[in-house]
Amino acid sequence: MYCPSKGNNIVLIGFMGAGKSTVARELGRLAGFRTMDLDAEIVRLQGRSIPEIFAEEGEAAFRNYEEQALRSLSSLRETVIATGGGVIGRAENWVAMRRLGPVVYLRARWETLRARIENGEGRPLAARGRDMERVRTLWETRLPLYAQADLAVDTDECSATEVARTVLQRIKEEGRGC
Ligand code: S3P
Repeated sequence: MYCPSKGNNIVLIGFMGAGKSTVARELGRLAGFRTMDLDAEIVRLQGRSIPEIFAEEGEAAFRNYEEQALRSLSSLRETVIATGGGVIGRAENWVAMRRLGPVVYLRARWETLRARIENGEGRPLAARGRDMERVRTLWETRLPLYAQADLAVDTDECSATEVARTVLQRIKEEGRGC
């Protein structure tokens, strides 16, 4: 991966259930890059799970930890970074992400995302019992933000390996985000 004017990482964004962490592992394997999961980094730095952070301090505090954790990655090289679905909400995070490398949006239809997150654990914004119409509204309000990515790749009918191959191909072809 050659990206002369930026850190040569790849940053994955997308809604909950888009497959960011799984695709990051595949991309890492194919590109020979390390992988880093921003949510896992927050959990490591905080010594608490994400549901615990939300329950104890609320979403605003989580967003501050998320921004700090993202900023702390600035010296990374040759790493695929899977972010959390809400990282796109702060302009500062976009500055940090674009410095790291091309920002790639893993796009999926609502039906696909819904099926993946409906019974999932560990996601306070889509926890069991939460009204899925509200989660859908959250997804809709975020769509224009995800669209600011350097590249968007559809994931609905694809395996993680296929998505990872497409991401690499598109970055090479388009030289976008560099
Ligand atoms: C969030 C998504 C989660 C996690 C947190 C908030 C969001 O990450 O960062 O629960 O606001 O969409 P995933 O997208 O990896 O589930």
